[in-house]
Amino acid sequence: MGSLIASAAVLPLKDYPWIHPSIKSGKIRKRINWGYPEGACRLDSNENPLGPSPGALELMEKALSQAHRYTSDYQLLKELASFHEVSKDMILAGCGSTEFLRIAPWTFLRQGGELITALQAYKTLPREAEKIEVKIRWIKLNDQFAFDLDSMKKALTPKTKMIYLVNPNNPTGTALDFETIQKFCSSLPKDIILFIDEAYSHFHQDKKGRNGITLIKQGFNVIVSRTFSKAYGLAGMRLGYVIAKPSIIRELRVFGFRDMGINQAVFAGGLASLEDHKHLEKYKELVQEGREFYYQQFDSLGLEYIPSTTPFLMVKVNLTSKVARKKLADKHVFVRKGEDWQMPSYLRISIGFPEENKTCVETLQKVLNL
Ligand SMILES: Cc1ncc(COP(=O)(O)O)c(C=O)c1O
Repeated sequence: MGSLIASAAVLPLKDYPWIHPSIKSGKIRKRINWGYPEGACRLDSNENPLGPSPGALELMEKALSQAHRYTSDYQLLKELASFHEVSKDMILAGCGSTEFLRIAPWTFLRQGGELITALQAYKTLPREAEKIEVKIRWIKLNDQFAFDLDSMKKALTPKTKMIYLVNPNNPTGTALDFETIQKFCSSLPKDIILFIDEAYSHFHQDKKGRNGITLIKQGFNVIVSRTFSKAYGLAGMRLGYVIAKPSIIRELRVFGFRDMGINQAVFAGGLASLEDHKHLEKYKELVQEGREFYYQQFDSLGLEYIPSTTPFLMVKVNLTSKVARKKLADKHVFVRKGEDWQMPSYLRISIGFPEENKTCVETLQKVLNL
């Protein structure tokens, strides 16, 4: 028996006697339709064009052979906790940060209460809150396209239970500095939860390394969400997490998938990504160069844009963004329309490879008749 196991362990997957016939024959004819035409410039979802780090790919491939096993999040939580220097009971990992943007309103607002957020920000959390008829106070961004914390504070009522910030913000790419958010936190009633979505935190770093997690360590009533989808290039694999004080995490756990939302492969890929600083730096450089390229091009074309800290940026166009987006899509360049955030004259463009950025600008020039 021992020798059978030892010899079976070295066989290539297709040679196992019990394997499904289609895998054995290598004749799977099914083609995957990714929903975009061949060769499309996919600059609409703020994805990392470099993809996962080589180390993550290697570990994910290994993990695929364990696809039939359920995952345990034990090691992931342990390593994430040590990475962020918090205790393990302050972390919950799940199926992208979307899992937490969706369950936070169910956890904390289902019995009433109001939510304050910005009109031109990521919509998943407030849209979920709308489903359970939470009253939302939508505050416009200020004239620098950043969260207007003074107006948000003025919108507080005795019923306010949660405030949702996105820092840096999607779609505008603008960011608030640590001290500004810390001051805001200090001014809030203690029972209000400040949810800070830090999906793009790797691109806006405080000189002293402080962020929303620092506020949690300082004792503020803050939830921070993070994702492996952006900086780590694992969007399609789905892994995100939240950090908060243990009592908040315990409440969120009731509504979440718990470790059932994490697939075997991304669990391994996530762990490898945390270690690959080089790959992360390479992506940051690509983003920095891409942003400079777009700024130069927009300046010479006379197009206004919003200076960005993130791997995407917004540009003002001379058509409604709905029309401009459609015209670009017809030429296989995919971007987002500002209408989705009540900014109808702006397009949001994700930064891609240099060739993609070039194609995007050239196509935009044609579409806008510049
Ligand atoms: C600000 C923000 N938060 C959360 C998400 C969702 O990310 P995830 O892939 O972790 O669910 C996105 C995705 O674009 C985002 O832009």
